[in-house]
Amino acid sequence: MTASVTLSPYQTSVADYWNAEANPVNLRLGEVDNIFHHHYGIGPVDHAALAGPEETREERLIRELHRLEGDQAQFLLDHLGDIGPADRLLDSGSGRGGSSILANARFGCQVDGISISQKQVDFANGQAADRGVDSKVRFHLKNMLRSGFPDGTFKAIWNNESTMYVDLSVLFAEYARMLQIGGRYVCITGCYNDVYGLPSRAVSQINAHYICDIHPRSTYFAQLAANRLVPTTVVDLTAATIPYWELRATSAVATGIEEVFLEAYKGGSFQYLMIVADRV
Ligand SMILES: C[S@@+](CC[C@H](N)C(=O)[O-])C[C@H]1O[C@@H](n2cnc3c(N)ncnc32)[C@H](O)[C@@H]1O
Repeated sequence: MTASVTLSPYQTSVADYWNAEANPVNLRLGEVDNIFHHHYGIGPVDHAALAGPEETREERLIRELHRLEGDQAQFLLDHLGDIGPADRLLDSGSGRGGSSILANARFGCQVDGISISQKQVDFANGQAADRGVDSKVRFHLKNMLRSGFPDGTFKAIWNNESTMYVDLSVLFAEYARMLQIGGRYVCITGCYNDVYGLPSRAVSQINAHYICDIHPRSTYFAQLAANRLVPTTVVDLTAATIPYWELRATSAVATGIEEVFLEAYKGGSFQYLMIVADRV
């Protein structure tokens, strides 16, 4: 099944990674309210919400990390523009489907999520069915570089932490094709900082950890410009994500990559950005 959507041995290795993934940091947080994210959080930590007896500290910490991840997803959705129930959205690299379900709950519209992991697609379709939204929220085993949706299908497309697996020149050409004129593209991504130079050791460690290829900030803007996607808003979320990582580093669900992210962000080699662009 996987071989039919992956376009290279590299992509097959990424699909294998996500098919095997079952990190408690993703599953236990998702179980808080059955919205499953595979992305990071933003915003200040609510220390009052963490206060309480030591025996139940971990439970409160999980809820707080999940709240920060939910806020990140809502911040992305805030920037999709004027979306109505008749519009259609694409969640590109949709993971276990949390952002798609939140988008449908907010806008009432059809949302297609795509992932190269069959396991994630099955899981996310199960979530949509459990919530009774499966007639509007559908997940597909598809490659974001060649998903086969017709031209001009979508009012908005987003990537939530999934652009570091693909060549942006191919990706943005595909989005320019699938977006309606005047449609919107939003991504939240980690990128390496051109001002630092080339990827730092910490950035290279993140690449090795996730089998990805973090792009420089400059490549996003060069490839958007080359593909009729004109930026309207750019927000540097680096400072806003650091509290999430500091909190996660103290949790039992820490995966070991937390200190590397903190070194990369604090050392200035890595940035967490939201980029919003209009299809013209
Ligand atoms: C870090 S997860 C992010 C998941 C989701 N956006 C979220 O916020 O929870 C990266 C996702 O990108 C997907 N992905 C990676 N390469 C892909 C490709 N070429 N086509 C479609 N999905 C891809 C993975 O399967 C995974 O679902």
